[in-house]
Amino acid sequence: MKKIPEIKIKAADIKALYQAGYDALAELREEAAAPVVKASFFNKEIIVVYGQEAAKKFYDSENFKRKGAMPEIVLKTLMGQGGVQTLDGAAHRHRKAVFMDLMTPERMEEYHQILDRKLSEALEKQHGHFELFNLSKNVFFEAICEWSGINLGSYSPQEIDELASCQISMISGAAASPVTHLKSRADRKKSELWAQQLIETARKHPVENKENVALYAFANATDLNGERLPLEIAAVDLLNIIRPTVALTVWAALMGHALFSRSDIYEALKEDFDELQDSFIQEMRRYYPFFPMIPAISLKEVEIDGYRIPKDSWVVLDLYGTDHDPRSVKEPFTFVVDRYKGRTKEISYEEEYEMLAQGGGDFRKMHRCAGEWITLHSLRVFSDQLVNKHHFIIPEQDWSIPMNRFPTYPNSRVLLYRD
Ligand code: HEM
Repeated sequence: MKKIPEIKIKAADIKALYQAGYDALAELREEAAAPVVKASFFNKEIIVVYGQEAAKKFYDSENFKRKGAMPEIVLKTLMGQGGVQTLDGAAHRHRKAVFMDLMTPERMEEYHQILDRKLSEALEKQHGHFELFNLSKNVFFEAICEWSGINLGSYSPQEIDELASCQISMISGAAASPVTHLKSRADRKKSELWAQQLIETARKHPVENKENVALYAFANATDLNGERLPLEIAAVDLLNIIRPTVALTVWAALMGHALFSRSDIYEALKEDFDELQDSFIQEMRRYYPFFPMIPAISLKEVEIDGYRIPKDSWVVLDLYGTDHDPRSVKEPFTFVVDRYKGRTKEISYEEEYEMLAQGGGDFRKMHRCAGEWITLHSLRVFSDQLVNKHHFIIPEQDWSIPMNRFPTYPNSRVLLYRD
């Protein structure tokens, strides 16, 4: 096994790496001229791996653990403490089952119908200019709350807007300026208190036959010893349904970019929507940057691409790099709308490591995103409405997508005009 090449990052290099954003890990690989690279800065070392073969080893729980791998700044904003992402082994599988049991085909269809109705109502109300980003945020929030059994009937529009914005803020504060980061922490606190109140009320007023409704499922979820989850943890995991669904706002905006910043993709879909819709969605998930990387700690010596990773190393799997890996993806930086034609189901139901936009592996046994099917339904609803149900005029705007913003989306947040 080969020794991993090391790149020493000096304080002066950090700004440039931050500017490179999603491309930073690829730049390190390029500098080292190797598929596995160790970056050392101050007294820390991190080993970066990428590609389908690396992913298979990374997701094997004999090789890597998650506990202790996620930096504190991410736990205090994006993820929260004690949630499913931080668990390993039997405790992880037990908690993950609560999530996956919600994702039945019937409940997915219900989500589809709710989102379709909410988006349709919101778009019908638009006359003149509006931002797709802003509109989508509240639509997703209201839809996922309804699907999760959370009644927003008594909330004012301002309260809804504030809570929806908190969900986005928790995501954007994980890697941001100190001011944005502090706001993000405060917004996580506010959201957790809200979710705790919901869980407390659901515990006080149990309703029958709500096992696969998120609010009640987390209110009644137990740990491995059969004890009810502490209120704080049940709230963190309820937010693990709400927050990432609202994060789909970012993909709605990226879809706006794919459809409206150029005409060829839109025209192709208009021509053959039924054949191309799911391939378009899968290609969107692969092509655009979203979740950059995932950290873990090696439990033993592991070999990846011929390099020796010692036990107890801090390792990150480059998700964006894997989805653009020329070793397995033809023309990785070109958006090929029919790339997945005929294979769309495979990608999100059978394939484990081909597409890593939302993580990889087995949904129940590993840390792969619990919301991949909600994501597919969401993008189906949005593509159908944007392509087939409404006509928009596209004003001049800034379509650029900065690679150093997490998550990132077009600068003008997709400005549309509807009569
Ligand atoms: C914007 C689209 C989304 C993206 C890009 C995304 C991405 C990811 C990624 C990269 C992971 C980590 C995989 C790993 O640790 O190996 C993850 C985990 C997770 N996602 Fe998503 N996700 C999205 C939407 C959703 C939705 C809609 C939900 C819920 C309805 C959701 C719930 C979760 C949960 C609960 C986990 C933790 C799974 C575990 O640790 O076992 N995500 N997601």
